[in-house]
Amino acid sequence: MTRPVIVALDLDNEKKLNELLPKLGKPENVFIKIGMELFFNEGPAIVKELSKQGYRIFLDLKMNDIPNTVYNGAKALASLGITYTTIHALGGSQMITAAKEGLIAGTPIGKNVPKLLAVTELTSISDEILHEEQNCNLSMEQQVLSLTETAKKAGADGVICSPLEVKSLRQNVGDNFLYVTPGIRPAGNAKDDQSRVATPAQAKEWGSTAIVVGRPITRATNPEAAYEAIKKEFN
Ligand code: C5P
Repeated sequence: MTRPVIVALDLDNEKKLNELLPKLGKPENVFIKIGMELFFNEGPAIVKELSKQGYRIFLDLKMNDIPNTVYNGAKALASLGITYTTIHALGGSQMITAAKEGLIAGTPIGKNVPKLLAVTELTSISDEILHEEQNCNLSMEQQVLSLTETAKKAGADGVICSPLEVKSLRQNVGDNFLYVTPGIRPAGNAKDDQSRVATPAQAKEWGSTAIVVGRPITRATNPEAAYEAIKKEFN
């Protein structure tokens, strides 16, 4: 099976989307990540439409609320034709389980249940914020591991993490789990605002299940060629 390379669109409206998408290739060859900026501006109809056109979709909304609300939110998302979606592991095991149950309940008969990925600590959280605002006594590494274990036990299908963390998470949490990793830069690309990056080949070697790549594809002179080259390097 080919390992997915997911293009992070990071766009906020349909016009920009319609300019970029045709440059990525045929819909059936393209896996996109849609975030809250596009979803909140354009609504769920656009996700349904893109799915109908053949795109595979990672809808990254990072839900975090009481279990009943997340259950109902996940149930609604499952009818849109998406492949992956996200919750915050910090929402707790009951919320994670509710998200998974909502996805199962909302998936139309005969369709695949979307995979539920957990976000642990956001990369924007520094050690200082972890200790002084979240009042967490663990190191960042211990906290990420603990949240990943909680997510797995509660029924998540995988986690979003750095490619640099996959090896140790696989050792501690196991291989029967998805490790989806942003922070990817092919050799020679600008790091932009990413601090810890890996090449697609390194991500493959270290065990990423799927990679999320934004600007190296979306800002390339020829996005489809850049996308295909990264897929080749990762597979
Ligand atoms: O353009 P770039 O390849 O840096 O985009 C990476 C994508 O992955 C963006 O959508 C970014 O928000 C997301 N992401 C990340 N680091 C995380 C979680 C998500 O870069 N820890």
